[in-house]
Amino acid sequence: MRADLCPQQIDSGGKADIRHSTVLPVLFRFLVISVARRLWSCLRIIGRHDHRDLDETRRIAARVEGWLTDEEGELLYELAKDCLGRGVIVEIGSWKGRSTIWLARGSKQGRKTKVYAIDPHKKSSLADFKDNIKMARVEDLVVPIVKTSAQAAGEFSKPVELIFIDGNHHYEMVELDFILWFPKVVENGTMVFHDTTNFFGPKKVVEEHIYRSRNFRSVKLVNSVTLGEKTRKNAFKDRFRSNVWLCIKKVYEVLEPHTFT
Ligand SMILES: C[S@@+](CC[C@H](N)C(=O)[O-])C[C@H]1O[C@@H](n2cnc3c(N)ncnc32)[C@H](O)[C@@H]1O
Repeated sequence: MRADLCPQQIDSGGKADIRHSTVLPVLFRFLVISVARRLWSCLRIIGRHDHRDLDETRRIAARVEGWLTDEEGELLYELAKDCLGRGVIVEIGSWKGRSTIWLARGSKQGRKTKVYAIDPHKKSSLADFKDNIKMARVEDLVVPIVKTSAQAAGEFSKPVELIFIDGNHHYEMVELDFILWFPKVVENGTMVFHDTTNFFGPKKVVEEHIYRSRNFRSVKLVNSVTLGEKTRKNAFKDRFRSNVWLCIKKVYEVLEPHTFT
């Protein structure tokens, strides 16, 4: 008996029919995997070009009082949709839910990451907030936390993949939001700030902690929103890009000279 033949080959008269025993299953598996990959990428391309949900979200958000522009909303929608589930989504300052709706509807199109909507609702906005979240059909994804940012941060232990900061706009309070929540954001997670061109507090905080920081890359401005991706240490090209965006922000502020304190 030849020692280099497996029992199956010996049964078939000792002919080493390697093609049938190993090559065909490997080829078949390769074919199935390639077809599945192609199908998946086609579905993703079709998904990216499906604007129906985005259009519907725009219509729903327009029915909710708030200051967030459509471009800012679309940015939140896309960021939430692209979340990979490495952490949750947090919002500081929800008011009646306009930005929460953009975040949650984006997340619904992606991995359905939960949105923790933090607001003390001192000005009785909670009832409207709940009605609007229901109207947008995202109650299953939104977790309201009726607390201040500082109270919530003290008890919040989940990693954060995306955070939108639009709470108290005083400089010390926005800086406190940054200090409390930055450590909870995962590496490559995104921090987003609203009103960074027209309110003194957020404006100063992002200049000091985002545009001039060594811990952020892919920094940019969309209307009044500044965003950046957390990183351990950014590279020269990242700092160059941040400075270019800071110049663009300064020009934008000159053209839109309304700053609230
Ligand atoms: C500008 S509104 C938010 C608007 C909302 N993001 C939108 O797009 O419609 C600011 C909200 O921050 C809330 N707020 C104020 N102080 C806060 C704090 N310390 N922590 C969390 N939220 C706070 C207020 O109750 C208010 O609802």
